Amino acid sequence: MRETTPKGLHRLAFGGDYNPEQWPESVWQEDVRLMREAGVTMVSVGIFSWALLEPEPGTYDFGWLDRILDLLHENDVRVDLGTPTVAPPAWFYRAHPEALPVSREGVRYSYGSRGAICHSSPAYREAAARITTQLARRYATHPALALWHVHNEYGVPVSACYCDTCADGFRRWLDARHGSVEAVNEAWGTAFWGQHYTSYEQIDPPRLTPTVGNPAQQLDYRRFADATMRENFRAERDVLHRLSPGVPVTTNFMTALSQSDSVDYWAWGREVDLVTNDHYLITDGRRTHVNLAMAADLTRSVAGGAPWLLLEHSTSGVNWQPRNPAKRPGEMARNSLAHVARGSEGAMFFQWRQSRRGAEKFHSSMVPHAGTDSRVWREVVRLGADLDSLAGLRGTRTVPDVAMVWDWHSWWAQSLEWRPTEDHEARERADAFYETLYDRHLTVDFAHPEADLSAYPLVVVPALYLTTEAAGRNLREYVENGGTLVVSYFSGIVDEHDAVHPGAYPGALRDVLGLTVEEWSPLGEGESVRITGPDGASLTGDVWTEFVVERGARPVWTYADGPAAGRPAVTRHRLGEGTAWYVSTRLDTASLDVILSAACEDAGIEPRVELPRDVEVVRRSGDGGDFLFALNHTAHDVKVPLESPGTELLGGEHAAGHLPVPAGSVRVVRLDA
Ligand code: GAL
Repeated sequence: MRETTPKGLHRLAFGGDYNPEQWPESVWQEDVRLMREAGVTMVSVGIFSWALLEPEPGTYDFGWLDRILDLLHENDVRVDLGTPTVAPPAWFYRAHPEALPVSREGVRYSYGSRGAICHSSPAYREAAARITTQLARRYATHPALALWHVHNEYGVPVSACYCDTCADGFRRWLDARHGSVEAVNEAWGTAFWGQHYTSYEQIDPPRLTPTVGNPAQQLDYRRFADATMRENFRAERDVLHRLSPGVPVTTNFMTALSQSDSVDYWAWGREVDLVTNDHYLITDGRRTHVNLAMAADLTRSVAGGAPWLLLEHSTSGVNWQPRNPAKRPGEMARNSLAHVARGSEGAMFFQWRQSRRGAEKFHSSMVPHAGTDSRVWREVVRLGADLDSLAGLRGTRTVPDVAMVWDWHSWWAQSLEWRPTEDHEARERADAFYETLYDRHLTVDFAHPEADLSAYPLVVVPALYLTTEAAGRNLREYVENGGTLVVSYFSGIVDEHDAVHPGAYPGALRDVLGLTVEEWSPLGEGESVRITGPDGASLTGDVWTEFVVERGARPVWTYADGPAAGRPAVTRHRLGEGTAWYVSTRLDTASLDVILSAACEDAGIEPRVELPRDVEVVRRSGDGGDFLFALNHTAHDVKVPLESPGTELLGGEHAAGHLPVPAGSVRVVRLDA
C-alpha cells in the first residue's frame, strides 16, 4: 500500500514554501515563533537549494538543513522536503552546457534563473539521481519528514526542449509508439506537402519552420516532452520510495495552466502518491473565484476524487502579471477554504517570509515586508485557527453533481495553428460551460473522455476537438444508458493523430448527436447571429455558426439570421434511454444557461433557486461526517438553506433552517447525522 497522506500530519496542512537559506539563522528563531503563533502545521523546504546542498560536485553541506529540520521538528512543524532538481547549480552547467534547454527557434537558454533543464540530458539525470539519493539517505528517518516534494512544477518554465539529444530521444519514442517509419508517415499524414521520411534519422523535433509545421508531429512532440519529464519524475520517486519507505511522494501540479504548454495531468495523477496543486488568481477581469473553483475541481478529478493538497497559492498579490492587485480583506480565507471545500486537505502558500532580494521580492507572503502589524498577518493567523477547527473533515470527499469531459491531448491539438477562426480559443468554451454550471450551484467533476461516466446524470463536452473513436463510443454508450450529454461545436473532429475522422463532421460524435455538420462558417469580428427557440424566445450567438443537418436529432433552436439562417442551431437527440444536446454556436453564459437548464431537466437535476449567484455551496462527505461549505463572494449578507441542522465549525454555534453567511465570509457546517 502506498502512503497517501503526509506522515505524522494529523491536522490540515497550513504553511508555505519556507526558504530559510535566504535569511541569517537569527531570523529562524523568529520564524518558528511566528509559525507557532499562526498555527503552521507544515512547510515546504529545500525546493531550490541544490547549490547550497552540493556546493561542489560530490561535496555536500547538509549542516544548515539538519539544523532547520531539527528546529521545525522541535516546534511541531512537519516538513514537505524538496528535491532541488529544478535548479541545478552553476558548476553543473559549466561542466554540462548541453543540459541547458534549446528553444524551438534554436536558441540555447543561459544559466541565471531556474528551471533551465533539458530533461533528456544524461548528465542532468545522473546529477538529479545523485542529489536525490543523498537527501533520501540523510533524511528518510528524520522525525520532521512528512512528504517528499520532487522538483517543482514540471513543464514550467520550459515545457519542451528542441536540442539534438531530445531529437534522438524523440526518434526512439516514435519507434516505441508507432513501430516503424512508415507508420509515422501514415500517422502524420506526411504525404501532405511532401514530408515523407525514409528513416528515423531524417525526423527532427518540430523546430522553427518557414510556415506551419506538421500538426501531428507537433502533437507527438508534446506527448514525447511530457513523457520525458514524467520519466524523470519516476526516477526520483523510485529512489525516494526505495530509500524512504512510508513517506508519500508528490510533485506540485499547476492544473489550471494554459492548455497549450501544460503536461497531461491525467497521466501524472497516476504517478504521484498524493496529488498537490499550485493555484494563483489570474486577474484579467473575470470572476477569479470561478476560475479557482474550476482549478480545484480539476485537481480533485486528477486525484480520482480522493483528497489532494493545495501546496501553493498567495496570501495577497503576485508579481508576475501585468497588474497585481492585493487581495481584498477576507479574500485569502475564501480562496483557501474554497480549495478545502473542493477536496484540499489544507491550504499552503508561496511563501512563508517575503524575500528581500531576487525575482520574487514583490510577491506577497505569509510574513510580509510590512511585518506582523499588518492585515495580511492578522488574516494568516485567523486562517490558521479556522483550519485547525476543520481538522475533522480530513479524508472526506467532495460530492460532485455533474461532469465535464476534459483531455489535455485535445487541448494541445486544438491550440495548433490554422484553424477555422482565431476567435475560437481552445479553453474558452470549457470556461463558459464551467461558469454556467457554477452559477447553477452544481459541483463539477472532470472526466477523461474514455472514463466511466455512468455516475453522472449530466455530462458536458465543451470543444472536445480531438475525440478518439473509443471516446465517441463511450459517450454514445453513456447516452444510450440514460445519460444526458451537452456537446459544443468543434468537438469530435479529429482522431489522436489530428486526422479528421472519415465522413462528415463531427465524425466521432455523429451517431450520438444524431446529426452531421456540412460546413462551418465562423463569424466576423463583432458579428453576431440570432437564434430562436421554444415560445418565440431568442438568444444571441457569435464567433461560430455551422450548417447542421438533422439525422435523428430535432432542432430546438434555429438560426434566425446569419449564414445558416433557417437551419438548426441547437438540437436534441433522444437515443436509447438518454438525450444528447448539441450547441452549434457560441453562446454567452446567460444564454448557455437556457440550454443547460433544459438539459438539467432531462437529467432530473433540480434547480437550486434559493441561492444567489456568487454564493458557493459545496459538500464534503465521508467517515468523518457530512460537511457543508457556504462561501459568500458577494458584498451582501445571505442565508443559505440547510437540509439538516448541524454545528457551524468556524464559530462553534448550532445551525438550523437558514444559515446566515455575512458578506465576504465563509461558514462550514458539520451536519448532524
Ligand atoms: C509558482 C512557483 C513558486 C513561485 C510562485 C509565485 O509557480 O512554484 O516557486 O514562483 O509561482 O507565484
